Amino acid sequence: VTIRREDYQPFGWLVPEVALDFDLGLETTRVTARLTLARNAKAPRAEAIRLNGDELEPVSVKRDGEVVNDWHRDGADLIVPLSGDAHALEIVTEVAPAKNTKLMGLYASSGMLCTQCEAEGFRRITFFPDRPDVLSTYRVRMSGDKATFPVLLSNGNPEASGEGDNGTHWAEWHDPWPKPSYLFALVAGDLVANSSSFTTMSGREVALNIYVREGDLPRTGHAMDSLKASMRWDEETFGREYDLDVFNIVAVSDFNMGAMENKGLNVFNTKYVLADPETATDADFDAVAGVIAHEYFHNWSGNRVTCRDWFQLSLKEGFTVLRDQLFSQYMGSDAVKRIEDVRVLRAAQFPEDSGPLAHPIRPDSYREISNFYTATVYNKGAEVIRMMRTMAGEEAFRKGSDLYFDRHDGEAATCEDFVRAMEDGAGLDLKQFRLWYSQAGTPKVRAQLTHEGNTATLHLSQIVPPTPGQPEKQPMPIPLKVALFDRASGERGEEHLLVLDKEEASFAFAGFAALPALSINRGFSAPVSIEREVAREELVFLAAHDDDPFARYEAMQDLIVGHLVDAIEGRLDEAQRAAGRADIAGALGAVLRDAALDDLMRGELLVLPGEGYLAEQQTVADPGKIHAERRALRAYLGAQLASDFTALYERAAKVPFALDAEASGARKIKTQALVYLAASDPARAAELAAQQYDMADNMTDRQGALMVLAGLDSPERTHKLLDFYNRYQGNALVIDKWFALQAGSLHPNVLEHVRALAKHPDFTLSNPNRVRSLYMAMAVNPQAFHAADGAGYAMIADLILALDPINPQTAARFVPPLGRWRRIEPLRAEQMRAQLERIAAAGNLSRDTQEQVARSLG
Ligand code: ARG
Ligand code: ZN
Repeated sequence: VTIRREDYQPFGWLVPEVALDFDLGLETTRVTARLTLARNAKAPRAEAIRLNGDELEPVSVKRDGEVVNDWHRDGADLIVPLSGDAHALEIVTEVAPAKNTKLMGLYASSGMLCTQCEAEGFRRITFFPDRPDVLSTYRVRMSGDKATFPVLLSNGNPEASGEGDNGTHWAEWHDPWPKPSYLFALVAGDLVANSSSFTTMSGREVALNIYVREGDLPRTGHAMDSLKASMRWDEETFGREYDLDVFNIVAVSDFNMGAMENKGLNVFNTKYVLADPETATDADFDAVAGVIAHEYFHNWSGNRVTCRDWFQLSLKEGFTVLRDQLFSQYMGSDAVKRIEDVRVLRAAQFPEDSGPLAHPIRPDSYREISNFYTATVYNKGAEVIRMMRTMAGEEAFRKGSDLYFDRHDGEAATCEDFVRAMEDGAGLDLKQFRLWYSQAGTPKVRAQLTHEGNTATLHLSQIVPPTPGQPEKQPMPIPLKVALFDRASGERGEEHLLVLDKEEASFAFAGFAALPALSINRGFSAPVSIEREVAREELVFLAAHDDDPFARYEAMQDLIVGHLVDAIEGRLDEAQRAAGRADIAGALGAVLRDAALDDLMRGELLVLPGEGYLAEQQTVADPGKIHAERRALRAYLGAQLASDFTALYERAAKVPFALDAEASGARKIKTQALVYLAASDPARAAELAAQQYDMADNMTDRQGALMVLAGLDSPERTHKLLDFYNRYQGNALVIDKWFALQAGSLHPNVLEHVRALAKHPDFTLSNPNRVRSLYMAMAVNPQAFHAADGAGYAMIADLILALDPINPQTAARFVPPLGRWRRIEPLRAEQMRAQLERIAAAGNLSRDTQEQVARSLG
């Protein structure tokens, strides 16, 4: 069944109060749900209530205190007749957490019980109107064996607890804030807490706890610091204060996604909680801070103001991603964070927008909502709100967000509500801007700068490409930050914010005696791709002079992308190839030697454009050629700049370990230097990497060295991989790295390695982190996934078929890489399509996988 946004109807019943009673057991948990019901005056009169269920049977149903049998089933749902205006229902169900391999609803994870309800997991616990516009206050009582479940947690504030018979105990929790069922959570297990406290701006004392397995306690400090910083930042930046007496976080090792913002009880993938320098990289530290902040910020953008229906998902996710991005910009390097976010958008979201799975940030239809937790809804959704912020300015934007929170507190809102609050509060006219919510596809902006007299004129035009179901597009308002540089003096004119809101427009700038250099989409002010004829000298100039760090990075990327795409498409003769490479080496050499750059930013400028992004620049891509050209360029640069890279390496290697920007910048460029050297002089790089591995006093250095070694054919490769495994055996998150490094490596036999690793005793299909560490690392490794004989495609298809019956949500996430087939050269495209057909032909596919495969085949 396809669910459509236009079919929204308010629910016939209000459920003001829910009382849940859990008799906990890993094998069987008995759930008694008591609901108070009242007719919803805003909905058409209903003679029954539809309660959603999923793999549930009713043990008993009572209406107004009496056992009834006049209910019936409609598929998985339970329909109970109701004739009055107010009723009470009591429904008993039994669930089997240990058998719940989908990790949705109530499930067991290494001896503990936990829940994941977003989007539609609550209906796997009890029959309920499992939709986000039904808001209730929850009272939860749970009891269970005290030795198995010493800690009993749910949403809200703890109210009472005590001892029961036969070694059991119980606890009661009450959440005063009305919430939809997807924010319900329960955790029971043998956990210990890192406890602290936070005083809010109005003086409320909040107890903070991060619950983990006993041995993990020493690795919770960074998460706790990040939580406190998030709480303070949200007060200062958005005026948002926390609203309960406790805030609990629980780390779980079996989890489908990153984390979940359940009211007062965030449940996290261990990957985004645990970090210490010995076992986590600098990137892991940043990811922990970012996800802790993200889930915390949902307390307002998601929980206090929630979504009316799942088509509005970006209302909470896009806004919350923007909020976590701004927080990370504030906590670390503004420029570097922006560049990283754009890189993620281009790597993950642009391919969605240009492929068969393209959808607007507010989708119009779905079959399985889990498939719409996408980079489009999250990351493009954040960019769309960021554009409003750019157009309004920070102060006016804050007025808009204040109005939004104020107007919709306690409600289930829509994207339209958000836009209207921005119009009324921030003073923006967003009539045409709403197209960003309804039209899919990455706009292409063509830019051309001409010069006459002392005026430079910028000619802009836009095309929003057709996407599935949307053949015709209207022009969108595209805010572009622009500046012009005098090429002789290097001086920059004023920065302008231009809004291109028609198919074509021109903008004139007086006061330029000669044709200036154009810096456009500075700070990546709009999520578009810019197309322009630009001379290499202009890019070299901007790569050296642009004062906007993103624009400087962009000039460097454009310089390399332009050269590589020309080379890949066979447009360069030997002389042109040599000239192009030399320009890149010149620009990169300047970056290596620029004393004014900090190393974190230098590290960004050194990153070669990814193979996926290069493929996006072509209508039909040949992954083999892209890989070969990019690799050859890296080897050339490594050789040409060998002494600069060596000098850089030696300088960085002297910086002692610290968690600050200077030391983490040094670690970043150190491994990058190794990567370039490995391409040009593998023997020397192997030696340096082995040494870096042995001397490492932190995971960033050790993992970086091992990553380089994993791609080389050196005896050190085997030694260090074995050492790493032995050293960290039993630490699941680090063993995940061990799998991922091998599956993501540049080694020519990577697919054989993956095949062998799938049989390793530590590999299992039942843990999503482990599955992703092996197979997602492979799927995003172009030379492995796009192996010319199609073995990579077949391996991913085999995985999808094996995983689908166990964990459909995670299985379906492997379909999109195969869905790229229309943009790949014919031989590979046919192999990819054939694998999709093979999956489609298998019986009993989950709704998740079926939808993704059907859309991918088109
Ligand atoms: N709301 C969570 C977050 O963004 C993600 C939960 C997604 N869950 C799912 N089953 N798709 O923080
Ligand atoms: Zn979120």
